[in-house]
Amino acid sequence: MVNLTIDGRPVQVPEGTTILEAARQADIHIPHLCYLKGINEIAACRVCCVEVEGERAMVTACNN
Ligand code: FES
Repeated sequence: MVNLTIDGRPVQVPEGTTILEAARQADIHIPHLCYLKGINEIAACRVCCVEVEGERAMVTACNN
């Protein structure tokens, strides 16, 4: 399991879970457009970009 904090809320998810899925489990909505689980996971639209502590640039929540 991986522990993370999204918008101040602690979340625990299995390893390999995307930020988008982790946020969803915590009832936090991250806007997304191109992501369709199992169908389209290429992160093309960049609508779901979020800040991640320690990262230099914003990352896509749907494939990280
Ligand atoms: S939803 Fe399009 S890049 Fe993430």
